[in-house]
Amino acid sequence: MKAKVFRGDSLADPRYDVYDVPLPSDGTCTVMDVLEYIYDNLDGTLSFYTHSVCNQGICGRCGVKTNGKVALACMRTVTEEEITIEPKNDKIVKDLVTL
Ligand code: FES
Repeated sequence: MKAKVFRGDSLADPRYDVYDVPLPSDGTCTVMDVLEYIYDNLDGTLSFYTHSVCNQGICGRCGVKTNGKVALACMRTVTEEEITIEPKNDKIVKDLVTL
């Protein structure tokens, strides 16, 4: 699948980078899995909330917009062949990390 991901911040030329991510056929892949795949295998400069948070839908720190709708990255499953992942609000620190 293709993941189009917001990069940058409010001040410096925001852009979208597109990554090819293999999608497992069992329907268990989450947006967090996509982001972790990108970070681990394609682009270690991507900033998002991950290892310091719960990964169980409890803390609420991993909220992002996926195809325009706010969702928890650790709970939102991915079945589409193409998704757009953006910060959940306008107070962007870097990439998908927001205040
Ligand atoms: S990591 Fe805690 S809700 Fe997603």
